[in-house]
Amino acid sequence: MRNLVVSTGAGISAESGITTFRDAGGLWENYPVMDVASHDGFLRDPALIHKFYNGLRAKLVSAQPNAAHRGLVELEKNFNVNVITQNVDDLHERAGSSNVLHLHGELMKVRSLTHEERVYQLPCNELSDKGLETSVDTRDPYGDAVRPHIVFFQEAVPNFDRACMLAQKADVFVVIGTSLVVYPAASLLHYAPRSAEVYYIDPNPSAVPGHVHVIAKKATEGVRELIEILTHK
Ligand code: APR
Repeated sequence: MRNLVVSTGAGISAESGITTFRDAGGLWENYPVMDVASHDGFLRDPALIHKFYNGLRAKLVSAQPNAAHRGLVELEKNFNVNVITQNVDDLHERAGSSNVLHLHGELMKVRSLTHEERVYQLPCNELSDKGLETSVDTRDPYGDAVRPHIVFFQEAVPNFDRACMLAQKADVFVVIGTSLVVYPAASLLHYAPRSAEVYYIDPNPSAVPGHVHVIAKKATEGVRELIEILTHK
């Protein structure tokens, strides 16, 4: 089967009710990003960051995958699909995608502050806080404090090399719902081979090279159109 690599951003989860970052009313309009999502911000005020991600997690658990997430699962019938997402939500997994690579971390996980390989899926009975919320007082079984398993601004993106290797093997590369302003994620589409077909689904698309097929629609409509294009070739 041909390789389909999909690079998704906040826009694919917008129709699930998850706020994007830079649209009108977006998350970064209401929260100073360097206070709630940066390495320095965590050093300065970890309690604020625990509270911010507790709030996002509470919203996520009541959200559901939408038809765009499900459309990518449907494409697994015709393609070897790898989803590379900037999103920290688990909607791709809950929709049933088989291969999901998170570039910016996972909201439903926290990890030890001192041993980053100790990652805990919330809710977790091993932690001193058993529910979905954590704080500066939360301790793991080793007595370590924990932090959100999120890649903060100013931190490296550990899965980017793996993402590049996947992109380089794409027969079809699709970008969905991202403003393409945060690197290195935004550069992924340039790692697709010149022979690959490249599509970009976004109702308000950012500028992309001429060879990219732009589908200027919402994710749910755009993925439906993409499925038509890819399965009726
Ligand atoms: N369907 C598809 N795309 C949509 C929809 C929709 N219903 N609604 C909005 N969009 C598009 C917007 O047009 C925009 O291009 O989703 C994109 C959202 O852009 P951002 O809010 O910048 O989100 P994203 O590109 O994922 O941000 C990248 O920035 O703050 C960091 O770590 C954070 O992963 C995030 C990264």
